[in-house]
Amino acid sequence: MAINIIVSGKSILETDAEAVYVGFFQTDEKDLKELKEFAKNVSKCIPSQVIAKVKELIAAKKFEGKKKQIYPVYLSDKKLVVAVGLGKKEEYNSYVFRQVVSCVSKNARDRKVKSYAFFLDNNWVRMNFEATAQAFGESTLLSLYKFDKLKTKDKNGNGSGNGILQTAELLIEDKKNIDPGKKAILVAQQIAECINHARDLINLPPNIATPKYIANEAKELVKKYKLKFTVLGRKEIEKNNLNLIKAVSSGSNEEAQFVILEYNGSNKAPICLVGKGITYDSGGLNLKPYVGSSASMRNMKSDMAGAASMIAVIEIAARLRLSAHIIALMPLCENMPDGKSYRCDDVIKAYNGINVEITNTDAEGRLVLADALAYAQKYKPACLIDAATLTGAASVAVGYMGACVMGSKEIVEKLKFASKDTDERIWELPLWEEYAELLDSKIGDLKNSNESSGPGTIMGGIFLKNFVEKTPWAHIDIAATATTEKDVHYTESGATGFGIRLLVEFVKKYR
Ligand code: BES
Ligand code: MG
Ligand code: ZN
Repeated sequence: MAINIIVSGKSILETDAEAVYVGFFQTDEKDLKELKEFAKNVSKCIPSQVIAKVKELIAAKKFEGKKKQIYPVYLSDKKLVVAVGLGKKEEYNSYVFRQVVSCVSKNARDRKVKSYAFFLDNNWVRMNFEATAQAFGESTLLSLYKFDKLKTKDKNGNGSGNGILQTAELLIEDKKNIDPGKKAILVAQQIAECINHARDLINLPPNIATPKYIANEAKELVKKYKLKFTVLGRKEIEKNNLNLIKAVSSGSNEEAQFVILEYNGSNKAPICLVGKGITYDSGGLNLKPYVGSSASMRNMKSDMAGAASMIAVIEIAARLRLSAHIIALMPLCENMPDGKSYRCDDVIKAYNGINVEITNTDAEGRLVLADALAYAQKYKPACLIDAATLTGAASVAVGYMGACVMGSKEIVEKLKFASKDTDERIWELPLWEEYAELLDSKIGDLKNSNESSGPGTIMGGIFLKNFVEKTPWAHIDIAATATTEKDVHYTESGATGFGIRLLVEFVKKYR
């Protein structure tokens, strides 16, 4: 059951919620000035006992308002007031806000309350109000997501994974913000639902989320919204000379599917989005090894996160009726070892005619993307963006807090701009042309991986650049951010949905 979010102008005393969370900036014993000022501002909304208790806790060094610090301040038998740290005032921003909201929602779930409220003080609204309310909705719904579709028991009671929690209430101090707040929450709900659906697809095991299963999920959207759906199966892939997609899928019993999903909300030239859709990456004949205690094949069901993200972007655009023309292209297949598999040393002619010499069957993502990017040109796109779990090296370059991005300056800059609003970090890597020679092939045009050591993530980008011609293009490597085992990107483990909001924001702002 999904969590219901309501917006109200009630005060902390008036709300019916079982627990109320109130944020405080970091402060210390010597500097209660901040808190006093805060108390003065909110005296109508926050009971003086709460402020007094917080002062006491600060003096006793139990609660200092450190970012994400949570401390209960009991008020009565019926209601629980919880102090939440917002961190240092000068460091506070929308990303801190999202993280705090995430913490609060999980805390409320773990406290086993049916309802909780979050008091939004005007002082914390550093962005515009709508953006703040939307961030509250997104962060709450993304944080309370749990993948329990495959659990036959132990579903925490009601199958929602959220225990008994049903309602989150946003208490708004300034009454004129209530209506804009309600609207923003509706938008957040649409966005979060689509992202959480994408997370389901990524979390589903590869024996269920096959290429045909994902293609069918995309097709289902056509029943709900006005979209155009095309799927090329094995025969059409062959007929269209999408030979790299064919090669990667050749070792698998699952038929490859090349899905093209179009949302036509404007008559401008389309934004083409290409998502890597490897439903399982075993490495192929270059089978992924088990090294030490680490099974590198583990979790390779999520190698279709790029494709799942693009489906979500299209669904969000359709639900929000964005004025945009978007075509998502998703090459979906498995990379498996077999007697029919493509091999190292094979030379395969790509859709655009380039002869690619295979030097590593585990560098399969760039192969399917190459054909899809080249194919996308036929739509004469205004720009081209791909998102892919492409290289393990992305986590070496920047770790798991953000994705690597590279490509045309104008698109990369626009992505950076969008990323500020969605608080999904991206970091630009250079496509230095000197590295291009690392992919020179002796017998064909281009190798799919450099055999000597080199910059792993950049090499992925450099390979792809050969297939985009003049179209402004950017490549986002989400290998390190698409899934997590740590508590980041609003989840403790599994698919994060990272990049979907970023792309939606990009599309919204694109001119
Ligand atoms: N799907 C992997 C990349 C990956 C690794 C995603 C870890 C998520 C977590 C990709 O197909 C791959 O195998 N890349 C190789 C490229 C290499 C062979 C050039 C890699 O990163 O080792
Ligand atoms: Mg691979
Ligand atoms: Zn892969």
